[in-house]
Amino acid sequence: MRSHYCGHLNETHIDEEVTLCGWVHKRRDHGGVIFLDLRDREGVAQVVIDPDTEEAFALADSVRGEYVLQIKGLVRYRPEGTLNKDMPTGKVEVLGKELVLLNASETPPFQMDDHQKVGEETRLKYRFLDIRRPEMLNKLVFRSKVTSAIRSFLDADGFLDVETPILTRATPEGARDYIVPSRTHQGSFFALPQSPQLFKQLLMVSGVDRYYQIAKCFRDEDLRADRQPEFTQIDIETSFMSEEQIMEVAERMIRGLFKEMLDVELPEFPRMPYSEAMSRFGSDKPDLRIALELQDVDDLMKGVESKIFSGPANDPKGRVAALKLPQGTKLSRKDIDNYTKYVGIYGAKGLAYIKVNDRAAGKEGLQSPILKFIPDDVVEAIMDRVGAETGDLVFFGSDKANVVSESLGALRVKLGEDLGLIKGDWAPLWVVDFPMFEETDHGWTSIHHPFTLPSCSAEELVSNPGAALSRAYDMVLNGTELGGGSLRIYKPELQKAVFKALNIGDEEAQEKFGFLLDALKYGCPPHGGLAFGLDRIVMLMTGSSSIRDVIAFPKTQTAACVMTAAPSEVEPKQLREVGIRVRKPEEDKK
Ligand code: AMO
Repeated sequence: MRSHYCGHLNETHIDEEVTLCGWVHKRRDHGGVIFLDLRDREGVAQVVIDPDTEEAFALADSVRGEYVLQIKGLVRYRPEGTLNKDMPTGKVEVLGKELVLLNASETPPFQMDDHQKVGEETRLKYRFLDIRRPEMLNKLVFRSKVTSAIRSFLDADGFLDVETPILTRATPEGARDYIVPSRTHQGSFFALPQSPQLFKQLLMVSGVDRYYQIAKCFRDEDLRADRQPEFTQIDIETSFMSEEQIMEVAERMIRGLFKEMLDVELPEFPRMPYSEAMSRFGSDKPDLRIALELQDVDDLMKGVESKIFSGPANDPKGRVAALKLPQGTKLSRKDIDNYTKYVGIYGAKGLAYIKVNDRAAGKEGLQSPILKFIPDDVVEAIMDRVGAETGDLVFFGSDKANVVSESLGALRVKLGEDLGLIKGDWAPLWVVDFPMFEETDHGWTSIHHPFTLPSCSAEELVSNPGAALSRAYDMVLNGTELGGGSLRIYKPELQKAVFKALNIGDEEAQEKFGFLLDALKYGCPPHGGLAFGLDRIVMLMTGSSSIRDVIAFPKTQTAACVMTAAPSEVEPKQLREVGIRVRKPEEDKK
């Protein structure tokens, strides 16, 4: 129906007869001449309709925003003085001769302009219109180019694209499963994959050697700006490669992507042990663009009288840390109250601080409600350790180590954002040497997943799970975990030892992962890989604040789709077929 995209017209088309198809972006009536801005995927073209083309003029006069038109006309230069430098097609216009109304449109709930301010709920309800907005459409175009570049890279590197099942068994990645009832096996359920982890490992046993998949993953977990219940991974697995080699391929892929898409040369990717990341930044995905760092002061606080500090300082699972904010004395009482509320989200019961009004004046120069609880020499030692200078403010966290790390780590980022302390565009790194396990109320759980190769022997692992490190690596960019992976266990005995440390008995292991344990018996090669979050990569590369903006049809914060009204109730017949009776929430309370 069209000869050219609206957005492609330029001087090379002068005097050409063209046929455009698109939506009426704007209509203006200028003293008897009608101007239509016609929009399609590629951009906007200006069409002029003179009253002497009567039929076209009458139709142009009646169209409204978002009507769908086919326009035939002649490309010509815009008259002197009316060029639009901000528009790619701004030097030319089309003298419209014939107009066909392909479809009308009701008045849309919002304008198809770039920076309009409608609530996200409305945007999601009318997502098909939201995507018509160039800003959104351009993100999808960008995303499509990213997947295409990644496919080209991996294809050229000898990776095979293999699809793995969506209807499967639970794949433990730490979240809840989405489950699907089976009609043919009533009472039994499929789980949607949290990742293709086990299948990609099995493909290594099969000899596929280098696998990749742009894979949909499903996780029923608490949502955040960088988490969706349904998301996409660039999933990779290799055989006979060391972690160095795997990290090299992954880094080359991401570097190449940034160069190709953004013409950005990413800086060096430093390697940082997990323990260092937690200690200095309170996070296993530190944003290295922010110069603030946490400093441990447990040793100094051990002897102080106040239990608020000495309790965690003497507790092996506790932590007392300081975070110095240079020139922070300018924060008001209200600012500090707000930050105290903010760290409360991360479980901190308070946020102690010391303002350094005059460092040379000793204790007299300091201002803080906590000074009366801490002896002068300890205060002095803390000030020395953090290198406090006049004008600085020092925050303190004192609690369980994870609470202190998480809350001060989050505060560090928040201060960075609020006070403009983010320096530089891109700060990538690899976080390595993760612990295998973390202790929870239910015992040990895997930090990555139970198939991760430990750095120690099976005996050491079982005798001291808390000390075991893993051969895992995460790629972090600007405070976001882009991807992560590991070398995998490839011998059944070691896999059993890990299950044992996780308190998964032989029978349960056999029942849930028997197929994996079997596969490990039949000549499983040493293997490893990683998976990137595609949505997160595109989010960062397009400067979006949420992955929802780079997913065509995302879910809301409560994991629902407002457009299709999913999830929804189903017909009683469908439930009967799968042998399910729904308990109403009030029945549960009985
Ligand atoms: P992991 O669980 O670390 O590893 O996931 C890999 C990457 O997937 C992205 N990601 C998400 N993106 C959006 N929404 C989510 N809910 C979400 N959860 C994870 C992140 C993350 O870094 N099978 C292993 C990989 C491996 O070991 O090879 C795995 O899934 O960017």
